[in-house]
Amino acid sequence: MLNRQDNETMCRTGPGTAMGDAMRRFWMPVAQVSELPGAGGEPRVLQLLGERFIAWRDDQGRAGLFAEHCLHRGASMQLARAEGDGLRCIYHGWKFAVDGAVLETPNVADPRFKQRIKGRTYPVREAGGLLWAYLGPREHEPAFPAWPFMACDDAHRVNAVAVMNCNFVQVMEGLVDSSHLTVLHASGLAKTNGVELDFAKKTTHMQFDAAPAIEADETDFGFHYVAMRPNGEGRMARVASFIAPCFIANPNGDLWFAVVPVDDERCNFFHVWWNAEKAIGEEPMRTQQLAFVGLDDPTLAKYGMTAATCDTEAAMSWRNGYRQDRALQRAGHFTGFDSFTQEDAACGVSAGGLRDRSQEMLSTADVAISRLYRSLLACARGIREGHAIPALGLEVGHVVGISAEIGAAQDWRSLVPQHKIVSSKAGAVASAALHSN
Ligand code: FES
Ligand SMILES: [Fe+2]
Repeated sequence: MLNRQDNETMCRTGPGTAMGDAMRRFWMPVAQVSELPGAGGEPRVLQLLGERFIAWRDDQGRAGLFAEHCLHRGASMQLARAEGDGLRCIYHGWKFAVDGAVLETPNVADPRFKQRIKGRTYPVREAGGLLWAYLGPREHEPAFPAWPFMACDDAHRVNAVAVMNCNFVQVMEGLVDSSHLTVLHASGLAKTNGVELDFAKKTTHMQFDAAPAIEADETDFGFHYVAMRPNGEGRMARVASFIAPCFIANPNGDLWFAVVPVDDERCNFFHVWWNAEKAIGEEPMRTQQLAFVGLDDPTLAKYGMTAATCDTEAAMSWRNGYRQDRALQRAGHFTGFDSFTQEDAACGVSAGGLRDRSQEMLSTADVAISRLYRSLLACARGIREGHAIPALGLEVGHVVGISAEIGAAQDWRSLVPQHKIVSSKAGAVASAALHSN
C-alpha cells in the first residue's frame, strides 16, 4: 500500500518530477532500431517520459535524437526536411546535424552566428537492437551500460516491444510477481509441454505450485527476489533481478525487459531474448517465439498494443471488455486472451491508467512488489534529497536472472553470489515500512 503522494512520486515521470529526473540520469532504450528511419529518411516522432523527441538518421546513417522544438522559435522538428547531413526546420531554414552542430542559419547575415549556438540534441547509442538515449544533464552522463545481450548480433537476439496503455509501474509489478504465473497464465503454461521453444521448456515446471515461497533482498542495483516451489527432494528456485530504474533480468536467464514511460498512462514494454549458441533471431524461430507469447505484430495490433494502434478502437478498454474472448473462456481457456502478453496487459490496463495504491491489500505473496515500491521511491527520493540513486553509475553486466534446482537446505543466494546485497531483511508489506526509509 502507498499513500497517494508516494504513489504519485513513484509513478509520474514528466519533466520536473522526481521520478522523471531520476530516469533522465540513466541511459534509456527509446526505440527499437528496426523502428527508426533509414539513412536520410524522414524524421520520426518518439514520445518518452511525457515529452516528444525527433529521431532521425543522416545520410551517413548516424542516428540522432532532437528535442521536438526548433532551437530558433519552436516549430516542431517533426516537420523538418531531411537534407543529407542535417535536418532543416521548415520555418526559417535553420539546419542541424545529429550532434547538435548548427550547419546553417539562412535568415542571419552573420556567418559566425551559427558557431556560437548549439541545437538541442541528446547523446544516443545503438546496441542490442535498441536505440539508447541519455536525456539528463550533460555533466552527469553515466558510462554506457554493458548488458549481456549487447554482445549478440541480430541473428542471436529477438527484440520486441508492446505498447501498454497504463503507467509503467503497473507493468513492472507483473514482472516481479511470480505468484500470478500459474493463475493468470495457467492456460498458456499448460501448452508449454512438448513445445520446442526454450521459453516453453523453461516455464513448464511452473504448472505445479500457485503459492511459491517468496523472499527478496535489497541490492546495490535495486533488488533481487526468489520464488521457490517444491521439486522432488529439493526446490526449484526462480530468481529475478530488478535493476533501477526500469530494467528486469527474468529468471529464464535469457530474457531482459525494460519498461519505459511514454507518458504517465502509457509505456513501451521492451523485450530482448538472446542466445549466443542458437540463431533465435532467424526465421522461423523468431516468429515462433514472438507468436507463442503474443508479441507478434498481428496479435499486438488486434489488441491495440502497437504504436500505430494504441490510440484506435482496437486498444483494450472497459468499453470493449479489454477484448476478452468469453466464448474462448467458456470453451475452457482460463482467461479468454490470446497469450501471456495480452493477459498481462489486460490486468495492468484494467487497473486504471495510473492505479491508486492507497486501497490495495498486499499479502505475503507481494514481498517483491513492496521491494519494487521501495526501490523506485529510493530513486525518486535520491534525486530530490541528494542521496545516492540505486544502480546509477554501477556496472550492470553481472546482474542476472536465474532458475535452478536447489537442495532443501541450500540458500538460494548461492545462485547469485556476484550480486551485492545491501539488506536481507524480508520485504515488508506494510505501508509504515515503506515510509521508514
Ligand atoms: S523556428 Fe526553426 S528556423 Fe525558425
Ligand atoms: Fe505475466
